[in-house]
Amino acid sequence: MQGKHIILGITGGIAAYKSATLVRLLVKAGAEVQVVMTPNAKEFITPVTLSTLSGKPAISEFFTANTGEWHSHVDLGLWADAMVIAPATASTIAKMANGVADNMLVTTYLSAKAPVFVAPAMDLDMMRHPSTVRNLDLLRSYGNHIIEPAAGELASHLIGKGRMEEPENIVKVLDAFFNESQSLKGKKFLVTAGPTYEKIDPVRFIGNYSSGKMGYAIADEAASRGADVTIVSGPVSVTPSHNNVKIINVESAKEMLAACQNIYPSCDVAIMTAAVADYAPAEVQDHKIKREKDEVDHIALVKNPDIAATLGRDKQPGQLLIGFALETDNELSNAADKLHRKNLDMIVLNSLRVPGAGFRTDTNQVSICYPDGSRKDYSLKSKREVASDIIDAIADL
Ligand code: C5P
Repeated sequence: MQGKHIILGITGGIAAYKSATLVRLLVKAGAEVQVVMTPNAKEFITPVTLSTLSGKPAISEFFTANTGEWHSHVDLGLWADAMVIAPATASTIAKMANGVADNMLVTTYLSAKAPVFVAPAMDLDMMRHPSTVRNLDLLRSYGNHIIEPAAGELASHLIGKGRMEEPENIVKVLDAFFNESQSLKGKKFLVTAGPTYEKIDPVRFIGNYSSGKMGYAIADEAASRGADVTIVSGPVSVTPSHNNVKIINVESAKEMLAACQNIYPSCDVAIMTAAVADYAPAEVQDHKIKREKDEVDHIALVKNPDIAATLGRDKQPGQLLIGFALETDNELSNAADKLHRKNLDMIVLNSLRVPGAGFRTDTNQVSICYPDGSRKDYSLKSKREVASDIIDAIADL
């Protein structure tokens, strides 16, 4: 945290009283803190308190009233190593999600090039309202980090999820981020994603329901921590939101293997999230098969190459290879078997039996299994949050 430039955005919620402690802790950890408040935040905590603790005048308006001096949100956005919005009210979250730049805080957010952390604080019903859920998902999709609110007694005296995370824990999240982001800097990641299409004739193929969402979320998460990421992608309609992600588009398993073999030797980490078709038609017809004329009653298949297993054989010391297992039964023993057969360093298991996990959903529930037989189980989360857990686990390795 030493020497880091942090913009602390404060919005108008009861939890704003905790912002004073947050400023103190950040300054104590060696950070330079610039407070930007919404006009409403001043109803909950005074700028004088925050200016005194941070050692810099807290900004809330675009201009200083008596001198007319303009506060440049663009310069602030460039100055910051991180922006933290704590507490973030439902209203500010909605403005950030939709680009409603009607105050200094949201304009600064829109100009910020640095990673952004959002610590929501609101009543439990506001927290679980579909609009808040959607807006937080939008922020996640922009690569922002959501510091989930804790459950407990709220200002309304209701009990539930909505309490702003404690300042000590917010500082811990930032600390971990700076350490981890440094450790992925310059690391080269290869991620396979999406399905493969195996051609039958010019208009038909064998494919599967993979959407690519999990792989793209992993790629975005690794890139947001400084890694150079290449996705070798089957046909999907998702796109990465981070601009440090390169995409190589392929269609079949054979093309995916060739692209991976090209870049794997220079990679530090390869994450195999693609749902590769196990079989391809033995012959590709060069004309559209006609029901009346061709009378096809079966399609002969041949086994596709196993990309993960091939990379596992080529793996060099220092490289990490991560696989996925999507299972419907005997989940743990199947995952353990794949881990060893493909020479993986860890395997992420998701079960199609869990509602909200697996193909096409925006959420996933995973367990991470290791070669020594140990295992970590995670709860049902958005795919972006699951991606963050997976990248944490890789950083630990
Ligand atoms: O054997 P199974 O398909 O269940 O293994 C899943 C893991 O292996 C995933 O990580 C998947 O991306 C990878 N895989 C592969 N090439 C294949 C089949 C699976 O890379 N042909």
